Amino acid sequence: MTLRQFKVWRGDGSGGQLNDYQVEVNEGEVVLDVIHRLQATQEPDLACRWNCKAGKCGSCSMEINGMPRLGCMTRMSTFEDDETITVTPLRTFPVIRDLVTDVSFNYQKAVEMPAFAPPPGVEPGEYRMQQVDVDRSQEFRKCIECFLCQNTCHVVRDHEENKPPFSGPRLFIRAAELDMHPLDARHDRKEIAQQSQGLGYCNITKCCTEVCPEHIKITDNAIIPMKERVVDRRYDPLVVFGRKILRR
Ligand code: SF4
Ligand code: F3S
Ligand code: FES
Repeated sequence: MTLRQFKVWRGDGSGGQLNDYQVEVNEGEVVLDVIHRLQATQEPDLACRWNCKAGKCGSCSMEINGMPRLGCMTRMSTFEDDETITVTPLRTFPVIRDLVTDVSFNYQKAVEMPAFAPPPGVEPGEYRMQQVDVDRSQEFRKCIECFLCQNTCHVVRDHEENKPPFSGPRLFIRAAELDMHPLDARHDRKEIAQQSQGLGYCNITKCCTEVCPEHIKITDNAIIPMKERVVDRRYDPLVVFGRKILRR
């Protein structure tokens, strides 16, 4: 057992401050263990969202020494022995209290996105697809909705004004997943991403990919292919010509 220095943000939507704490740390523990010990021994009303403690529910997202991370997957052994560990709430979303933020922005963006729509006449239970198509989008289905990518993306991190037109990387992988789905026949996911989800705001900084705890290659495997295909369609004279003919 050792005593470690922590700074933890406490406050609510009207403001707050970093408080200093000295907390016991044991071998093998993660940051969330220490937050729980802080609640148990010094700050019983410290608010912190968590559920699985196994990196699977996506609830314990927080910023640890300025890096967006899952508290339950950040081992204390990754820090220097004399390092002060600073824990703050996600910066992109409004604070409710202490380490808990209101992430409803992400759910709103999910609601705005047209749902999976199979071809007319194909009912649930009749969906059939090749294993190769299942495998293609499997990576995107690993998302645990921790919203670390959404929190990190500079398009919205310091630009509240960009939130209405920008859905963010989590929704871009959902769009890419549906774009690859052979039965999602009624929507043009690339056009929707470009026209309604703000795909054009993304300038491929890849910060979202760097923080994803599921190691989803958000930028390389979802965003860039979607952008390339939008550009292909828009500027390929043959495609433009073909679209005009088809519209007649
Ligand atoms: Fe979290 Fe990765 Fe899903 Fe983004 S894509 S919400 S970082 S799991
Ligand atoms: Fe944002 Fe990721 Fe693009 S961080 S700018 S969505 S590559
Ligand atoms: Fe579920 Fe951390 S508590 S991901």
